[in-house]
Parts: sequence; C-alpha cells; structure tokens
Amino acid sequence: MTGAAGCAGKPTLAVVGATGAVGTVMLGILSERADIWGEIRLIASARSAGRKLTVRGEQVEVVALAEEAFEGVDVAMFDVPDEVSARWAPIAASRGAVVVDNSGAFRMDPEVPLVVPEVNPHAARMRPRGIIANPNCTTLSMIVAMGALHAEFGLTELVVSSYQAASGAGKAGVDALREQLGKVAGSDLGSQPGDVRGAIGDSGPFPGPLALNVVPFAGSLQEDGWTSEELKVRNETRKILGLPGLPIAVTCVRVPVITGHSLAVHARFEREVTVSAAHEILATAPGVVLCDDPAQGEFPTPADVVGTDPTWVGRVRRALDDPCALELFVCGDNLRKGAALNTAQIAEVVAAERAAL
Ligand SMILES: NC(=O)c1ccc[n+]([C@@H]2O[C@H](COP(=O)([O-])OP(=O)(O)OC[C@H]3O[C@@H](n4cnc5c(N)ncnc54)[C@H](OP(=O)(O)O)[C@@H]3O)[C@@H](O)[C@H]2O)c1
Repeated sequence: MTGAAGCAGKPTLAVVGATGAVGTVMLGILSERADIWGEIRLIASARSAGRKLTVRGEQVEVVALAEEAFEGVDVAMFDVPDEVSARWAPIAASRGAVVVDNSGAFRMDPEVPLVVPEVNPHAARMRPRGIIANPNCTTLSMIVAMGALHAEFGLTELVVSSYQAASGAGKAGVDALREQLGKVAGSDLGSQPGDVRGAIGDSGPFPGPLALNVVPFAGSLQEDGWTSEELKVRNETRKILGLPGLPIAVTCVRVPVITGHSLAVHARFEREVTVSAAHEILATAPGVVLCDDPAQGEFPTPADVVGTDPTWVGRVRRALDDPCALELFVCGDNLRKGAALNTAQIAEVVAAERAAL
C-alpha cells in the first residue's frame, strides 16, 4: 500500500470534482459522517485551482487535477464527467489509490465492481483495476429497497418509470430549471400548446422545457429508441443484483423537481407476495424507510425526502392481476444516496478493509 495510511494512521482521501453538484454534497457528507480520514485533498479543474471550500469545518484550497495531486492518496473519489474519469481514474489507481468512481466510465467493465454497500458490499474486494464504480443515481434511488425484496422473494421482472430531478443533470440542470421557473412564475402559461416552450426558449441541458412540464427523455438517444439513462438502470440493476438475465423495462422522465428522484416500480417475484410481508422487509431493511399510510396522506415525495439519506418507500400494493407482483413508489435524494453518500460508504468499506490489514 502506498499513501499516508501506513505511516500517519488515518488514510488520505482525495475528492476529485469537489466543486461540482455531487462534490458539494460530498463535502457536506464528509463533514457529517464519522471522521475516519486523515488529509482530505480537494481536486477540480485548473479553472477552480486556488478556490477555498469548507470541509469538516476547515477551509481547504482546491488543487488542479494532475498526476502529482494523487501523491500519498489512499482513496480517490471521482465526481467528474465520464471522459475525465476515463482518463484520470487509471492514473490515480496506478499511483496506489483505490478509486471510487461516480461517473459512467467503468460501471459495466467486468473488471470493475459496481457496489451498493447495503446490497453487495463483498463485491468491493474484487477490484483488479483498483477501481470501484458507483451506480447511476436513478438505479441507486431504488436498488436498496429492491435488493431487500429480492433477497426475500427473488425478483423475476421489473417495470420502472422514473420521475427524475433536474440536479441529476448536474449544476447546469439546477441552474436551467431555476431560470425557467423564473420565466413562468406568476404567468398564466400552460393553457395553450407551445406557450411554455415559447416563453422559455432555450431549455438548456433538457430536450424540452422543464418548468410546468415533464420531459420523457433523460440521457442520450441509443439504439431502438432507448435512452442511455434507461439502459443504465437496466444494465446496472442486473449487475448489482447478480441477475444478468433479469427482464427490465425502464422509461426515464425528467420532472420539475430540483433534487430527489422518484420511481414507480412494478416488481414481479418467484412466488406469491403480500403487502404485509413486503412491509415487514422494508421496515427493517438497512437504508430503507417505509412511509406507507395513504389514508393519513403518508407517502414519500421528493420535496419531503430531499437532504435525507435513506431510500423511502410507499404506496406498496399487490398487483391486481398478478399475486406474485408488487407496485410501489420509491424516492431518494439523487445527490446523497444517489451519488455522494453511496460513494462515501464505499470509500469507508475500503478504509475499513485497509485498517484491518
Ligand atoms: N448529479 C447527479 O445526480 C449525479 C448522480 C450520480 C452520478 N453523477 C455523476 O457524477 C459526476 C459529476 O456530476 P455532477 O452532477 O457533480 O457534475 P457537475 O456539477 O458538472 O461538476 C463536475 C465537476 O467535475 C470537475 N471537472 C470537469 N471537468 C474537469 C476536468 N477536465 N478536470 C478536472 N475536473 C473537472 C468540475 O470542476 P470545475 O468546477 O473546476 O469545472 C466539477 O468539480 C458525473 O460523472 C455524473 O454523471 C451525477
């Protein structure tokens, strides 16, 4: 092992992309969780070098991404665009750091484990490239709950519709939605075809206006009309659950929410299921909160779960036409469990493993 852990005790952590939407939440999470790290080094592009950010109550200067920035680093979290991770994660790994990568660059690489600590923590140990991948935010927003139900009932099929927040498209997505909301606030727009589109003009990173609207497209267009985001949910769910042939149909929809992804899930299992058995599992599963009393108006919504760590589950019903299937609604903070928190949890698994050596 290279890095500071051996000599100074606590391991050195690098946060690459510390200035971005995920990086910003990461610094908050690192400030709240058990203080297991020695130095925390903040890295971003040369544009941000010299900026000071607060982590653990201290101001830390951002350094530019460069090979030397990984000197002495034990664990390097990457919260940067795919192409930056693709180039720099192997460099960090070659300098002795274990990389936990939040981008899509390595998730489907057979030599890179895709890890959710509540579901498949053991996978983190097998990392021949020195890289562990963090799943996509939409997959992560449901997988802890689905993993718990799968462990009990055995999943045989999933049909998923997502309701994804603007911050899933990074800071640019948040800025665009806020700007669009400003353009429509107080107006009577939304009563004529095209009036919202006309008022908003350029819709930024979304392929249509998001304020007063929903957009049934997230990611980029792939073969046969599927989007990259839909294929990620399908492929990553299969990899995490170890079910390579699981039938999964996904439709990803962007909604005018700042942060908090939601998913409506139809899940089919190997045997008959009941709502009470599902409730029992979900009420005790680590990382899951059951919030399911519609008679009292209790069900999760993104506005209520934003800023929280767990996966929230409600509206659990047995399918009317299939005793082996459940319908449920799942919500999670796409920047916390959907990105930064899961990455922090994986990094903690690695740190614990190193501490045990
Ligand atoms: N947003 C989500 O819900 C979410 C969820 C899961 C995973 N992710 C993934 O996490 C990653 C970061 O997403 P984000 O939403 O935080 O993006 P973002 O807000 O656009 O932030 C991007 C970060 O990457 C840095 N960066 C960009 N180009 C760089 C370069 N050439 N060299 C060094 N640093 C560079 C930026 O630094 P500067 O400020 O210096 O430009 C910034 O810190 C992406 O791969 C994304 O797909 C996002």
